[in-house]
Amino acid sequence: MLVSEIPALRNYFYPVCYSSDLSKEPKHVRLFGEDFVVYRDSQGTAHGLSDRCPHRGGRLSQGWVVNDCLACPYHGWEYASDGKCTFIPSQEAGIPIPTRAKVGAFPVEERHGLVWMCVGDEPREMPYFTELEDEGYTLIHEMMDVWQASAPRIVDNALDVSHVAWVHRNSIGSNANNKLEMGEVSRDGLNLKFSVTLVAQVNEAMKNINGVTGETTRRTTHAELVQPLIFRGRLVYEENGLVHVLYKTCTPIDNENTLFCQFIARNDNPAPERWESITAVDRLVQSEDRALVEHIEPDFPLEITDEVHTKYDKMTVEYRRVLAELAGAR
Ligand code: FES
Ligand SMILES: [Fe+2]
Repeated sequence: MLVSEIPALRNYFYPVCYSSDLSKEPKHVRLFGEDFVVYRDSQGTAHGLSDRCPHRGGRLSQGWVVNDCLACPYHGWEYASDGKCTFIPSQEAGIPIPTRAKVGAFPVEERHGLVWMCVGDEPREMPYFTELEDEGYTLIHEMMDVWQASAPRIVDNALDVSHVAWVHRNSIGSNANNKLEMGEVSRDGLNLKFSVTLVAQVNEAMKNINGVTGETTRRTTHAELVQPLIFRGRLVYEENGLVHVLYKTCTPIDNENTLFCQFIARNDNPAPERWESITAVDRLVQSEDRALVEHIEPDFPLEITDEVHTKYDKMTVEYRRVLAELAGAR
């Protein structure tokens, strides 16, 4: 099933850019195969509109902000943050503005250094990230890139436990220690949780970054499907109590492309000069996943009988059920 065949996915908030990348210039963003524009008003508040002017199709993202409105670059019509046209420059005063002179307006939120947008008719709540509300954790942004892969394929890969020893054999995985200790998958509505303990290979970078010793270390991952396209992985190192939480969000650009964003929270209060080395390992790991999923077809199978499963695939089987439920939700 393609992303466009699950309209309920539109009702969630997704990151569209870093807050620091949204200046006074309007910015074009693309979600679910449609074009939108985000911009800031004079107070700095971010807003989101459809990127197509109903007059002659001008792209508002090529326009500019004036009087807290967004001006179309073609004939200068101005649109307020609720999408209504408030001014038509060529029109004489006193002539009413056509009621159809309006564009779609969509909720935009800024949280954790990201601009989030929802383009559905029935917006759900913003995702809640436990560790990011806790002062004991440090937020570090790691990456935001366009992947040529469908969003469910990327989430499926994040939820997949047995690939680590193979796809990441040259980084954090060890195919000498590929037996897993898995717990049960628990489901609450569309939220999924499970834990898995594995023996991870320790290289020099890992020793420096995570303070672990020896050739291998036991690490438990508490994985969670926070929202249908948002993953949280709480990695706990048994040896020293280090907690490294990975958040992965997948913003569907269209059926085949995804804006992948990853940020982490750490409980060891890492000094900023260590951030680069910490994020370098996660970037390497993610590039290994990317090389793989970019070659998997975007059509995501929701029929359980379409694929072969083992007991280690419990989480990803359940993910198919979650998406199937969502697909039938409207
Ligand atoms: S196309 Fe936008 S004002 Fe004419
Ligand atoms: Fe992976």
